[in-house]
Amino acid sequence: MPQKYLVTSALPYANGPFHIGHIAGAYLSADIYVRWLRLCNEDVVFVCGSDEHGAAITIQAKREGKTPRELIDLYHEQLKQGAARLGISFDIYHRTSDPIHHQTSQDFFKVLYDKGVFIEKVSEQLYDETAQMFLADRYVKGTCPKCGHDAAYGDQCEKCGSSLDPLDLINPVSTLSGSTPILRQTKHWYLPLGNYTEWVSQWIDEQQNTETWKKQVYKQCQSWIEQGLRDRAITRDIDWGVPVPLPDAEGKVLYVWMDAPIGYISATKALLPDTWQDYWQNPDTKLVHFIGKDNIVFHCLIFPIMLHAHGNFVLPTNVPANQFLNLEGEKLSTSRNYAVWLLDYLNNFPGMEDVLRYTLTAIMPETKDSDFSWKDLQTRNNSELVAILGNLVNRVIVLLNKNFEGKIPDVLPDPRAIIEDAAFELRQYQKALHQNLNGYIHRYEFRNALQEILNVARVANKFLTDTEPWKLIKTNPDQAGAVLTICAEIIAYFAVYLEPFLPFSANKLRHWLLLSDEDIEAIKNNTFTMETGRRILNTNEYLFRKIEDAEIAPYIAQLEAKRQTMLDAQKTVAEATTETQTVATHTPVKEAITYDDFAKLDIRTATIIAAERVPKADKLLKLTIDLGFEQRTVVSGIAEHYTPESIVGQRVLLLANLAPRKLRGIESNGMILMAGDGKTLQFVSPEGEIENGNVVS
Ligand code: MF3
Ligand code: ZN
Repeated sequence: MPQKYLVTSALPYANGPFHIGHIAGAYLSADIYVRWLRLCNEDVVFVCGSDEHGAAITIQAKREGKTPRELIDLYHEQLKQGAARLGISFDIYHRTSDPIHHQTSQDFFKVLYDKGVFIEKVSEQLYDETAQMFLADRYVKGTCPKCGHDAAYGDQCEKCGSSLDPLDLINPVSTLSGSTPILRQTKHWYLPLGNYTEWVSQWIDEQQNTETWKKQVYKQCQSWIEQGLRDRAITRDIDWGVPVPLPDAEGKVLYVWMDAPIGYISATKALLPDTWQDYWQNPDTKLVHFIGKDNIVFHCLIFPIMLHAHGNFVLPTNVPANQFLNLEGEKLSTSRNYAVWLLDYLNNFPGMEDVLRYTLTAIMPETKDSDFSWKDLQTRNNSELVAILGNLVNRVIVLLNKNFEGKIPDVLPDPRAIIEDAAFELRQYQKALHQNLNGYIHRYEFRNALQEILNVARVANKFLTDTEPWKLIKTNPDQAGAVLTICAEIIAYFAVYLEPFLPFSANKLRHWLLLSDEDIEAIKNNTFTMETGRRILNTNEYLFRKIEDAEIAPYIAQLEAKRQTMLDAQKTVAEATTETQTVATHTPVKEAITYDDFAKLDIRTATIIAAERVPKADKLLKLTIDLGFEQRTVVSGIAEHYTPESIVGQRVLLLANLAPRKLRGIESNGMILMAGDGKTLQFVSPEGEIENGNVVS
């Protein structure tokens, strides 16, 4: 019985077309994997579709002066076309605006709701008074409390991959109006992830042991679990999305990350209305999610918890997330249009889909970020595809046609035996090819798999060059015939095994070699031979062609120009910042006060005797301060500069008569004096042995 597989590629937001970074992340990898599984006659369903809800859509629509509907219709089509033209072989490319999806995700929500999984909470949320709208997700930006990235979104930091709550952001700013949001109350439903901590960590450990998840994926999961899983709002106050299917939820929709992964299920339903459950609700199915690293938390923790809470769904077997692809040494940026767009490539290099597939596979960011450059694409094309693979295929086909009428010649046993001896190494590689590729692919090592094939092609090429059949033809035509037969056989293997990687070229090759379905099965079983008298086509086509410098020069220049513009922009920003900083350090001395004013300040010497983090407040530490005559609690905004452990015992100066105020529900009684230059922050402390509680004057 074939193994059932559900393979998914992250649903791309329908707010723009594919660029090569997307492709190298979650699409090409999945396609190679799926094509391999199909080649092995497994039972695979490969689904994807457009992610058409959420702030990513509504914000981009506004930017382009379109309605969300106009935007998604435009980009859904472009995404679908792009993937198809590159040979990404989805069984279905669905979309989350489809009624099937709305129904499926509402049903899913209802099941969890009826089971009492959600918590209903009225709480204060960020609100933009100018735009009159609650700010979640991409509607609010700020500094990431985890890594300090200054453009983290309300739900996620794309730099470090952390999943965030808008209230976590340091200095939150509305992306709609640029204003600083206020707090306002609203009701939402929350998924209490924390309740599943034990289950999810155990499950991930089991997966890690049986399936070997990628190290980075496993580590990220562990670190999230260690930091503590928090309640997560799964509804939003916006008017674009899947309506919350409850009577008291007027104007609320599901959070996009609640509905989008359910899109994998909806897509399968749309494809297989009668049998989708055989995959999704079958414990023997292997579910594999291909994603980019920014999606790990959603696919490894949140969606599995949703599936588990629902019950009766298969959980992911593996989530082989890729890292990011850079472009000519810089981060890809869609907003700055610093990218190579897939459709542009396909239009500019017709018939060269496989060259892009080859290059992106060779540099796939499997374990770390990698870099695409046009020069590298050209080199790989010219010195690998053309010089090795293409050259091998072409020489064999031309020589057989020229010297043996396009037929596998009859060769006497003795000369055949001599040539088989010379081909010993090549034959070993040929026999092991299937097994080696299978090993790499099931470890998600697509780069290595592709290199394996290329290495065998190198060995074959060398065999051809060493034996020189074009000379042997005159001296020993039997031996020449034997060489060409062996080479024809190995390229028949390539016609099968290149298919997952370079499907367009593999298909040409199958056709040129007139391989039947039975031949292909025989190759997979390692029982194939090129029989005497077998015909091949007489083609004058090449598999690959050289790329000249002049062809890629305009694209290199374009990117270079954009990089320059970006650098200039950065410089301007940097200069502006230096200016304000200089201004800041030279802020005029504050207005004069009398000694009496100063005398009102009760500043004391003190020591920090305990410190701890304030939950859900990444800037704040709760300190216990010893004043000698009493101890006090002070909440201080120094958590970004000091860890709690490092400051216990620190001598400080405390403004002791500052009126008490509540911070995050904790009453703070006083303020510690600090000296700062905008970047670092230092304690101001008395020198020497002065006791706590003494007055500073
Ligand atoms: N649209 C998301 C992104 O581009 C990915 C969604 S994956 C799914 O980051 F699981 F939610 F579908
Ligand atoms: Zn971050």
